[in-house]
Amino acid sequence: MLDLKEKYLSFFKSKGHVIIPSSSVIPENDPTCLFNTAGMQPLIPYLKGAKHPLGTRLVDVQKCFRTNDLDSVGDSYHHTFFDMLFNLSLGDYFKKESISWSFEFLTKILNIPVSKLAVTVFKGNDLVGKDEESASIWKSLGIKEERIAFLGEDDNWWPNMELLGPCGPDTEIFYFRSDEEVPEVFDPSDKRWVEIWNNVFMQYNHLENNTFEPLKNKNVDTGMGVERVTAVLENVDDNYKTSLFKDVIKKIEELSGLSYEDDNNKASMRIIADHYRSVVVICGDDALIKPSNTDQGYVVRRLIRRAIRHARKLNMDVNSDFDLVICKMFIDKLKGTYKELERNEKIILEEISLEKKKFVKSLETGLKEFDKIVSRLSSRVIDASNAFKLYDTYGFPLELTVELAREKGIKVDEEGFKVKFMEHQEKSRQGAAGKFKGGLASTGEMETKYHTATHLLNAALKVVLGDHVHQKGSNITVERMRFDFSHDSKMTSEELKRTEDLVNEYISRSLEVEKLEMNKEEALKMGAEAMFIEKYGDVVTVYKIGDISKELCGGPHVSNTSELGHFKITKEEASSAGVRRIKAILE
Ligand code: SER
Repeated sequence: MLDLKEKYLSFFKSKGHVIIPSSSVIPENDPTCLFNTAGMQPLIPYLKGAKHPLGTRLVDVQKCFRTNDLDSVGDSYHHTFFDMLFNLSLGDYFKKESISWSFEFLTKILNIPVSKLAVTVFKGNDLVGKDEESASIWKSLGIKEERIAFLGEDDNWWPNMELLGPCGPDTEIFYFRSDEEVPEVFDPSDKRWVEIWNNVFMQYNHLENNTFEPLKNKNVDTGMGVERVTAVLENVDDNYKTSLFKDVIKKIEELSGLSYEDDNNKASMRIIADHYRSVVVICGDDALIKPSNTDQGYVVRRLIRRAIRHARKLNMDVNSDFDLVICKMFIDKLKGTYKELERNEKIILEEISLEKKKFVKSLETGLKEFDKIVSRLSSRVIDASNAFKLYDTYGFPLELTVELAREKGIKVDEEGFKVKFMEHQEKSRQGAAGKFKGGLASTGEMETKYHTATHLLNAALKVVLGDHVHQKGSNITVERMRFDFSHDSKMTSEELKRTEDLVNEYISRSLEVEKLEMNKEEALKMGAEAMFIEKYGDVVTVYKIGDISKELCGGPHVSNTSELGHFKITKEEASSAGVRRIKAILE
C-alpha cells in the first residue's frame, strides 16, 4: 500500500504538479530566519513573481520546524519538527481547483468520511472582505453550512495581517478526532476537531502603506501535516501512538520502566520523543548545525536539555546511551525520506552525546551553586532570581531545585520563578517572531553584498587550497558572513592572507556579476559550482562573476564587485569533520 506521502505526491502529480525535493530545514542564504516553518517558505521569491524553473504547479514534502510550538509539545498533537505535504500554484489555478482537489484527496484517496470534516473560512475585516467564494465552493462539494465557521484574521489569514509581502485568506480543514458522536455544528474551539490542512490563497501583496494590493499572479499554497493525518489514517487519537512514534515510546517505556498509559508520564515521554526527533533532523541537515548558544544551535541545545530533564524526571539513567538509542531509531525511520540523515549519522550521534556530557557537567557545577545559595539564605525560601539562575545558567529544571530544597526543609518561590520564566519566554517568542517576519522581507543591500562575497570567497579558496573546496553551507547577517567549506586541515595564516588578498583583488577588478539562465546540463558542462545539484530544475540560474566564478544560485547579487568595499576574514575554525568555517566582514 502506498504511504501517505506517496499518495499525496502522486495525486498532485496527476493534477499536473511537478514533484520537487525538500529544501534544507535551515533557510539557505536567509539570515533573518532560523528555520523553515512551512513548505512555501523556501519558495517565497516565486510567490512574489519570480519564474520557477519547474513550472507553475509544484508539490513537495518539506521538513519544517516551529520553535513557537516548543511549549505546546506534550499534548497529543503538537510537534516541533513535522513533515509538511504541500502543493503550490504559482499564478496558475486558484480557489475552485485547490479546494476541490483537497476535498477529493481526503474523501476519495484517503477515504475520510465527509461527516467527520469541517472547515473555517475568513470572515473579513476592515481591509479585506469575507471569503464567500471559498465557502460556496465548500458547500457545492457537500460540506454543510453548519460545518463552516467564519473566523477572523488570527485564524484565517496567512502568514498574518502585520507582515508585509504576499499573503491572503486561508481556509482550514478540520477532522473530528474522537470516537464520540460527531456534533452536527462545528465548534472550532472544541479540541476534538483537529486542523489537518490549510489552503492559503495568496492574492494580495501587503504594502508598507498598509494597503493590500491584489497580486497580478494569484498563488495557492496548501500545507498538510503528515503526523496529524497519519493519526487520522491509523485511527488513533494521539500522534505519538502512530507508526511514526509508537516504537520509540515503547523503547522509552522499557528504558524508564514506566508506562505511557499513566498520565503522569505521558507528557515527558512525548517531549523526549519529539525533541530528539527534531534534534536528529536539525543536526543531520547538511547545514551541519550543532548545539551552541546562538541561533539554531541554541534551539538544539534547549531541545536536548529539555529532553534530558524529562528523562531524569522519568528516572532514566541520563548517563547511559538512552539518547543515542532513541536518536538512532529516528534516523532509521526518517532516512528513507531524508538521505542526509544516513550520511550524517555519525556527526548527529557525536554532537548529541557531546552536548549531554556538557549538560551533565553543568548539572554538577549547578549542584555546587545550589549549596552556595542555600548557605547564604536568610529565610527558608530560595527566591525566584536564584531559582531562575539555576534553571538558566545551569539548566536546572524547577522540579529539581524544588526536590533538592525539600530535602533540606527549604521552599522555592515557584510562582516568582514562573513569572521570570514567562518573561524569558516572551523575549524568545518576540525574537522568534522577529526572525520570521524577516523571512518574508526582501534581502537588504548589505546581505546582498555578503551574498556576492561568498561566491568570491568560494572562488579564492579554490585557488589557494585546491579544487576540493566546495561550499557546505553559508549564513549571512547584515553584519557578517559565515561560509562553510570542505577542507581537511586548519588554514595557515599565510593561506588566510592569500585568500583575503585574492578576494580584495577580485573586488578591485570591478568584475561584472552576470545572471544567466540555461539548462542544467549546460551549467554543469561550463563547470558551474552547485551545492545541491539534485535540487535544481532543468532550467537553472547561474551567476557568473567575471571569469573567476560560476555558481548555480537563486541570488540576489550586486551587479559589480566594486560595490563590495574591503573584505576581511575575522575567523577560521573547524565546523565539523572535514569542514572548515570562515567568518568575514565587508568594511
Ligand atoms: N503556509 C501555510 C501553512 O503553513 C500552508 O502551507 O499553514
